[in-house]
Amino acid sequence: KIYNIAVIRGDGIGPEIVDEAIKVLDSVCAKENFELRYEDYLMGGVAYDFKGTPLPDETIEGCLKSDAVLFGAIGGQKWDTLPREFRPETGLLKLRKSLGLFANLRPTSVFDELLDASTLKPEVLKGVDLFVVRELTGGIYFGEPRANDGFTGYNTMIYTKPEIERIAHVAFESAMKRRKEVCSVDKANVLEVSQLWRDTVNEVAKEYPEVTLTHMYVDNAAMQLVRNPRQFDVILTGNIFGDILSDEASMISGSIGLLPSASIGGKVGLFEPIHGSAPDIAGQGIANPLATILSASMMLRFALGEIKAADRIESAIKKVLQDGYRTKDLANYGAKEVCSTTQMGSIIAD
Ligand code: NAI
Ligand code: MG
Repeated sequence: KIYNIAVIRGDGIGPEIVDEAIKVLDSVCAKENFELRYEDYLMGGVAYDFKGTPLPDETIEGCLKSDAVLFGAIGGQKWDTLPREFRPETGLLKLRKSLGLFANLRPTSVFDELLDASTLKPEVLKGVDLFVVRELTGGIYFGEPRANDGFTGYNTMIYTKPEIERIAHVAFESAMKRRKEVCSVDKANVLEVSQLWRDTVNEVAKEYPEVTLTHMYVDNAAMQLVRNPRQFDVILTGNIFGDILSDEASMISGSIGLLPSASIGGKVGLFEPIHGSAPDIAGQGIANPLATILSASMMLRFALGEIKAADRIESAIKKVLQDGYRTKDLANYGAKEVCSTTQMGSIIAD
């Protein structure tokens, strides 16, 4: 079987981590008898530099005709002073919108292999297994009107009922395959849009009588994630709250360099680490490639249906962590040997 993968390396550490994911993918497909054909596309700062736009049309077209998109990260200081339409982040937001990727799935679990480390607390973290379902193409990121005239700046946090319904269905369906609990996170005590969110989620919940639904304000959720993250199964939330809470949740696992994500809802899924382009460490060969390798594994599982290959990658990662290999971000988490980005990729591939 042959699958076509659109590859977007992007900026900063993007190219470094995507190379390692491809190394690992090539190693599993040799074992599992399928073939991946990669086609490179530009997005972000690098696309602006070469094509004058952060999201060239051929990138959208290329993604649409592929079976899945594997993406690194975009952004960097070099492009931060450009007008917003030329900024790398605008390219990514437009790509998500163009591909119809309204649901962003972010699993967070804790590798037992990292739990012995002094900085993690096993009594709080052992067995954490939560799943953030973040709405990705609406909310304050896209709401109009928006403006900044140098004196007044504003954005609009807007959700329509159908937008809330469809993301709520994704959360309830995810919960049905897990522990059957959904915690919907909002700020309904203050925001009108959150009250609509809450009412709508309550309505959708009636279609899933087996699932237990609770609601939590976002400020409390931020606190509960640190205090007792084991209480959560599926967290359902909007675009900006989900962005913030999932970065917070990443530290439960030890490093933001560990967490993968899948963006789905359209014809083609996009798989990327939750972190950004980490300009502070780009080019040094120290970035943790595991989040991207795990994203590649989600791609095999959810987009291509190559479950055995995905399982292989995940057990290879466990084994490598068990053996004490760590990138620099996890050096204090029981490392026997601190290795570079490329070494980590090669060990997992082997
Ligand atoms: P970031 O996630 O790039 O970095 C935050 C911190 O985590 C940094 O200290 C970085 O070194 C560290 N880090 C991130 N990934 C790592 C990895 N794989 N291994 C080891 N350490 C890692 O977020 P930041 O610094 O706020 O943003 C940098 C740029 O990335 C900005 O231009 C931002 O707009 C962009 N960005 C892009 C995203 C994307 O492409 N999906 C998502 C978030 C930010
Ligand atoms: Mg983020």
